[in-house]
Amino acid sequence: MQNAGMCLPRPSSRALDLGEAVRLEYIHMAVLYPIRKYPDSILRQKASPIEEITDEVRKLAADMIETMQAASGVGLAANQVGVALRLIIVDMGGEQGPHIIAVINPQIVESAGEETAEEGCLSVPGFYEPVKRALHVTVKGIDLDGSEQTVKCTGLAARAFQHEIDHLDGTLFIDHLSPLKRQLFRKEYLKQSK
Ligand code: NI
Repeated sequence: MQNAGMCLPRPSSRALDLGEAVRLEYIHMAVLYPIRKYPDSILRQKASPIEEITDEVRKLAADMIETMQAASGVGLAANQVGVALRLIIVDMGGEQGPHIIAVINPQIVESAGEETAEEGCLSVPGFYEPVKRALHVTVKGIDLDGSEQTVKCTGLAARAFQHEIDHLDGTLFIDHLSPLKRQLFRKEYLKQSK
């Protein structure tokens, strides 16, 4: 089975490749955010659209990339670091190494196929469950320069986009589980985090 957790360690994780999206000058002063954990209420908030791409937004994106990489994740949504804005970071890389992009106000405009694979989340540490997702998605949004971007992807990257966009709507992967599994999760998780 494909072990496709959003926040699973990426075995081939290598040096930071910022792709075209992020400006290098922000990196030397990067801040590592603490990642908010379930049941923090910000994870249930619907994040607001970003109206203007300011230096603060670019800095937030750069810091989120550092934070995601430090936590060995393949995706991160801004509300996971305590900022309820519609910004996500996804590592679309594979065996060739990381390829990280930031998408502002992302929307899934097309999806096709389905795949069930194990998922995890940096905000729900220690829990992994199979989740059914679309196999292919097309995502539209804005990049850090304010240009429209369209991303077509499949498999793990498509899963990461669906997972991270869910975060912006206050949805966690555990919400996709059956009621019984969700109940078991709550019991176990709360016991574990005591
Ligand atoms: Ni997550």
